[in-house]
Parts: sequence; structure tokens; C-alpha cells
Amino acid sequence: MRFRVSIIASAMTATIHKLKRLFAICLLLWMADGQERPNVIPTKSLPEGYVGNVVCRGCHPNVWQNFYKNPHYKSVAAGLSPETSGCEGCHGPAKKHVEAKGGKSTIRAFSILPAKAALNTCLTCHAKDINRHNIQRSGHTQANIACNTCHSIHKATTPKALLSAKQSELCVTCHASVKAQFAMPFKHRVNEGFMQCTDCHNPHGAAATVTRMSVRQRMMEHSQGNEQACIKCHADKRGPFAFEHVAVRVDGCEACHSPHGSMNAKLLRRPTTFTLCLECHNGANGFGRSTTGIPTQTASHNMADPRYQSCTTCHVRIHGSNTDPLFLR
Ligand code: HEC
Ligand code: HEC
Ligand code: HEC
Ligand code: HEC
Ligand code: HEC
Ligand code: HEC
Ligand code: HEC
Ligand code: HEC
Ligand code: HEC
Ligand code: HEC
Repeated sequence: MRFRVSIIASAMTATIHKLKRLFAICLLLWMADGQERPNVIPTKSLPEGYVGNVVCRGCHPNVWQNFYKNPHYKSVAAGLSPETSGCEGCHGPAKKHVEAKGGKSTIRAFSILPAKAALNTCLTCHAKDINRHNIQRSGHTQANIACNTCHSIHKATTPKALLSAKQSELCVTCHASVKAQFAMPFKHRVNEGFMQCTDCHNPHGAAATVTRMSVRQRMMEHSQGNEQACIKCHADKRGPFAFEHVAVRVDGCEACHSPHGSMNAKLLRRPTTFTLCLECHNGANGFGRSTTGIPTQTASHNMADPRYQSCTTCHVRIHGSNTDPLFLR
């Protein structure tokens, strides 16, 4: 609209003011229409301490007028009770607040609310969808980072998920070192915007562990079937294989790969393959088939032969094989 107005304006300077005024009136009417929408409120008898949404309008016009765009508006429109919907669904009973003509101490004010209390407020409704990720035990909750750090109800920058900043900026404001890892020579292209943190992580916490049995999960998102997040894109590593490489199944992809970025090709943790393999195939804990656990000295496993060092030129199916127990094909 505005674009079109400006074209006309440059062509016909005489009518510009009239047109502008007309446009402004149209816009105002259109906005006013929007303003009226949140007006559906529960008119049933209000429980003790509650005042209903309309009362907020006079003193908080901006918040109130924009609220119809919010996914939380739905619950207002549904005409549910004020304890579970609308402004007081989050801010709590507001009678005292209104009687005192405002104040932060008379209402649940998120600007001063401790993280834990904010979290529990949101969980009164979101317990089912969010708490299944064990949010109470997540690294974020334990570091006192609650929902309203990452989400903003009234000043969201993304319509989806109401994030307080775009995800590409949100996570790295606190995890700057991770951003640097994604700038290494070999990396997943997160900084470039081809992937995002939540392709692998769930910032709300991790469900039950699937790999690395006793190791704390780094809030990994699991793809369908409770598999490692990596599998949803690297489906060829899924298996099951007739001959599994125990390391892949039990220790997980991170045993050999740095998931964010690495100085080494294929995101490997070590610059040369054999140092990686010998971390486990070193005789300790009975790894390997031979009684020593170290690959037995043979023509192919000749420590003096540089060929020996690139284990995966022979053990090509390192993630698992359907034909060979030694992953040679
Ligand atoms: C889903 C929970 C939720 C609902 C519903 C909600 N608020 Fe909020 N409100 C918050 C949170 C969280 C903040 C902290 C700032 C933010 O996240 O945007 C906040 C902040 C505020 C503020 C402080 C000023 C500001 O813009 O930050 C006012 C005033 C306010 N809310 C009024 C209202 C009114 C009026 C309604 C109903 C139209 C309402 N709230 C509905 C959660 C909610
Ligand atoms: C008579 C005017 C008035 C009415 C009615 C009113 N408020 Fe307020 N409210 C205020 C004032 C003034 C403040 C600012 C307090 C401050 O910043 O110290 C405030 C602050 C708040 C805050 C705290 C914002 C923060 O800093 O986190 C919330 C939340 C809030 N109001 C929600 C509501 C809700 C919900 C309603 C409707 C049920 C409502 N208010 C009705 C005047 C009012
Ligand atoms: C560390 C940041 C962070 C915290 C803390 C956080 N969230 Fe989120 N949340 C996100 C991001 C990022 C997304 C978007 C995920 C996506 O795009 O796939 C999201 C998505 C959501 C969604 C959309 C549906 C879904 O499951 O993806 C809801 C609802 C939600 N969060 C609620 C909450 C609640 C409630 C809390 C607190 C109990 C909370 N979040 C805490 C970052 C956070
Ligand atoms: C009174 C119940 C209630 C409370 C309290 C509540 N929510 Fe919600 N929330 C809802 C409903 C209902 C929806 C809409 C779900 C839908 O559209 O399917 C929603 C949607 C959301 C979404 C958008 C999900 C999406 O898919 O885009 C986010 C993010 C969210 N809530 C975060 C929060 C945060 C953060 C808090 C605490 C400040 C909070 N909610 C408190 C009921 C609530
Ligand atoms: C407000 C700062 C902040 C924001 C924003 C934030 N984090 Fe965190 N994050 C932390 C802190 C603090 C910890 C806990 C200490 C640590 O392990 O570094 C943490 C821990 C983590 C962990 C490790 C958890 C564990 O169990 O060790 C992951 C993974 C993570 N965050 C991912 C994310 C993602 C993804 C986002 C964006 C959606 C995000 N964070 C946004 C501060 C933040
Ligand atoms: C390709 C999947 C993937 C992506 C994308 C990803 N991560 Fe990770 N991240 C992991 C895995 C796997 C671990 C666990 C590494 C381990 O335990 O050795 C991890 C560990 C972490 C940790 C805890 C350990 C540490 O290095 O401090 C943080 C914090 C973290 N990631 C934050 C982020 C942030 C922020 C983003 C987005 C900028 C992101 N991750 C994107 C897979 C990923
Ligand atoms: C959202 C999809 C996605 C997820 C999830 C994902 N990756 Fe990737 N991965 C890619 C893409 C795409 C590439 C190609 C490299 C690029 O982006 O330039 C890649 C490249 C790689 C490479 C290097 C391949 C090469 O030939 O150099 C390795 C190793 C790798 N990923 C391992 C992992 C691991 C381990 C995880 C889990 C922690 C994971 N990926 C999760 C999409 C994904
Ligand atoms: C035991 C160590 C080890 C584990 C565990 C491991 N990888 Fe690898 N991966 C390697 C090695 C070594 C290479 C390089 C192979 C080569 O250069 O021929 C590689 C290469 C890759 C590549 C690039 C080449 C290709 O085959 O597509 C991807 C992608 C990959 N791995 C993904 C994964 C995923 C996903 C997981 C978890 C399911 C995983 N890796 C677990 C050792 C491992
Ligand atoms: C995280 C530990 C770990 C790493 C790293 C690792 N492996 Fe393994 N590997 C194992 C375990 C455990 C077995 C199963 C041993 C058993 O069944 O006795 C195994 C089995 C094997 C086997 C099958 C033979 C056998 O003894 O069953 C081969 C071949 C093998 N690994 C090669 C490699 C190569 C090559 C690398 C380096 C790319 C590598 N492994 C890296 C733990 C590891
Ligand atoms: C030139 C090809 C070749 C290279 C390079 C190679 N292997 Fe092997 N590997 C084999 C063959 C063939 C067998 C089966 C016969 C044998 O034991 O010689 C085998 C068997 C094994 C076994 C199972 C038997 C045992 O002795 O425990 C393990 C474990 C193993 N290799 C690990 C490694 C590791 C780790 C490296 C790199 C440091 C490596 N291999 C490099 C060809 C190779």
C-alpha cells in the first residue's frame, strides 16, 4: 500500500496530501478493527482476586492491543476461566494490582520474578509439551535461565516460537565459543545459516539417553525412534548392521567426531585416523578380538608401515557393515 502511495505521490504532487490523509484514515480504521478483537473475555463470574482482561486495557494499551496476534490469545478467545487464560493466566490475579493503580509488587511481574518462579508459571500450561524434556534438570534451568530469557511474550522477534531474538543470534550471545567452533576449517554450516543449533539440541533439555550410557546428555535432540540427532540427516549411518561397530552404537558419534567443527577433515577428533582408533584399540579393557586388544602384528598391521596408519583405507565400513565383521567391506 505504502509503496503504491509513494509512486502516486511522486507522479502527482498535487494530490499527495489528500491521498496520504486518506491512507492514514484507512490504516487507523483497519488498526482499530484489530484492536477490538481481543475483546472476547470470560464474562462468567470471576474467581476471587481476578478482574478479567479488559481492565488491563486502559493502563497497558500497547500490550493489550497487540495481544490478538499472540498464540496465547487463542486461550482468551476460547473464553476459558481467567486463571488459565488471558493476561491473568500468566500474571496471576490482578485485583490488588488494579486497586493499587499499578506497581510491580502487586502482580506477577516477570521483570523481577526469579527464574524458577517464571519457569513454573509457564509450566502450569506447558508442562506436557516441554517438561517431557526434563527441563527441570536441563543445563539451562540449573544455570537459572528460564523460559523468558529465550522467549518474549510481548516483544517476540519471531512469530514462530516467540523467540526473544532470532535463533542464529540467541544461542551464540551466551555460547560465543561455540560460534567459533563453527568457524573452523571443517564444520557444519551453522554460522552460514544452513543448519541451526536446534537441529541437534533441544534447549529445553534432553529426554532419556540413547547412547553414552552413563554420560550426561548435552541436551541432544533425538530424531524419530529415539535415535541420535545425527541420524535424521546421516541416514546411511542408521543401521542396524549385521555387524555393528560397538563404538558407534554405544559411545555415539561424538566418540570420533567433533560435532560442531574441527581442524581435521570429516570432523574427526584426531588429526590422524590411527590415533583415534588406538584410543580404544590399545589393549586396555579387552577391546579388539585379539587377546591383547591391539590389532595383531600382521602384514597389514605393521607398525612400521605408514599404510597401517590410515585404518579406514581397509576398514572402509567403519560405521558398521552388513557383510564383514571386520568392516573391511
Ligand atoms: C504467556 C504468558 C503471558 C501472558 C498471557 C501475558 N503476559 Fe504480560 N508478560 C509476560 C512475560 C514473560 C513478560 C516479560 C517480558 C516479555 O517476555 O515480553 C510480560 C511483560 C508484561 C508487561 C511489562 C511491559 C512489557 O512490555 O514488557 C506488562 C505491562 C504485561 N506483560 C501485561 C500483560 C497484559 C495486559 C496481558 C494481557 C493482554 C498480558 N501481559 C499477557 C507473560 C505474559
Ligand atoms: C490503573 C492502571 C493499571 C491497571 C488497570 C493495570 N495496570 Fe499493570 N501496571 C500499572 C503501572 C503504572 C505499572 C508500572 C509499575 C512500574 O513499572 O513500577 C504496571 C505494571 C504491570 C506489570 C509489571 C511489568 C513488569 O515490570 O514486569 C504487569 C505484569 C502488569 N502491570 C500487568 C497488568 C495486568 C495483567 C492488568 C490487568 C489485569 C493490569 N496490569 C492492569 C498500571 C495498571
Ligand atoms: C535456552 C533457550 C530456551 C529456553 C530457556 C526455553 N526455550 Fe522454548 N524454545 C527455544 C527455541 C530456540 C525454540 C524453537 C525451536 C525450533 O525452532 O525448533 C523453542 C520452542 C518452544 C516452543 C514451541 C514448541 C516446541 O516445543 O518447540 C514452546 C511452546 C516453548 N519453547 C516453550 C518454552 C517454555 C514454556 C520454556 C520454559 C519452561 C522454554 N520454552 C524455555 C528456546 C528456549
Ligand atoms: C494459561 C496457559 C498458558 C501459560 C501460563 C503459558 N502458555 Fe504458552 N501457550 C499456551 C497456549 C494455549 C498456546 C497456543 C498453543 C497452540 O497454538 O497450539 C501457547 C503457545 C506458546 C508458544 C508458541 C508455540 C509455537 O508453536 O509457536 C510459546 C513459545 C509459549 N507458549 C511460551 C510460553 C512461555 C514462555 C510462557 C511463560 C512466560 C507461557 N507460554 C505460559 C498456554 C499457556
Ligand atoms: C542467557 C544465556 C544462554 C542462552 C541464550 C543460551 N544458553 Fe545454552 N547454556 C547457558 C549456560 C549458562 C549453560 C550451562 C553452563 C554450560 O554448560 O556452559 C548452557 C548450557 C548449554 C548446553 C550444554 C548443556 C549441558 O548439559 O552441558 C547446550 C547444548 C546449550 N546450552 C545449547 C543452547 C542453545 C541451542 C541455545 C539457543 C536456543 C542456548 N543454549 C541459549 C547459557 C545460555
Ligand atoms: C551437528 C549437530 C550439532 C549442532 C548443529 C550443534 N551442536 Fe552443540 N553439541 C553437539 C553434540 C553432539 C555435543 C556433545 C559433544 C560432546 O559431548 O562431546 C554438543 C555440545 C554442545 C555444548 C556443550 C559442550 C561445549 O562444547 O561447550 C554446547 C554449549 C553446545 N553444544 C551449544 C551449541 C550451540 C549454541 C549450537 C548452535 C550455534 C550448537 N551447539 C549446534 C551437536 C551439535
Ligand atoms: C540437519 C542435518 C544434519 C544433522 C542433524 C547432522 N549433520 Fe552432519 N552434515 C550435514 C551436512 C549437510 C553435511 C555436509 C557438510 C556441509 O554442510 O558443508 C554434514 C557433514 C558431516 C560430516 C563431514 C562429512 C564430510 O564428508 O566431510 C560429518 C563427519 C558429520 N556431518 C557428522 C555429524 C554428526 C556426528 C552429527 C550429530 C552430532 C551430525 N553430523 C548431524 C547435515 C547434518
Ligand atoms: C569409531 C569412530 C567413529 C564413530 C563412532 C563414528 N564415526 Fe563417522 N567417521 C569415522 C571415520 C574414521 C571417518 C572417516 C572415514 C574415511 O575417511 O574414510 C568417518 C566419516 C564420517 C562421515 C563422512 C564420510 C561418510 O561416510 O559419509 C560422516 C557423515 C560420518 N562419519 C558420520 C557419523 C555419524 C552420524 C556417526 C554416529 C552415528 C559417526 N559418524 C560415528 C569414525 C567414526
Ligand atoms: C570409542 C572406542 C572405539 C574407537 C575410537 C574405535 N573402536 Fe573399533 N571397536 C570398539 C569396540 C568396543 C569394538 C568391539 C570389540 C569386541 O567386540 O571385542 C570394536 C570393534 C572393532 C573392529 C571389529 C573387530 C573386533 O575386534 O570385533 C574393528 C575392525 C575396529 N573396531 C576398527 C576400528 C577402527 C579402524 C577404528 C578407528 C577408525 C576404531 N575401531 C575406533 C571401540 C572403538
Ligand atoms: C592394509 C589394510 C589394513 C589396515 C591399514 C588396517 N587394518 Fe585392521 N585389519 C585388516 C585385515 C585384513 C584384518 C583381518 C586379518 C588380520 O588380522 O590381519 C584386520 C583386523 C583388524 C582388527 C581385528 C583383529 C585384531 O587383531 O584385533 C582390528 C581391531 C583392526 N584390524 C584394527 C585396525 C586399526 C585400529 C588400524 C589402524 C591403526 C587398522 N586395523 C589398519 C586390514 C587392515
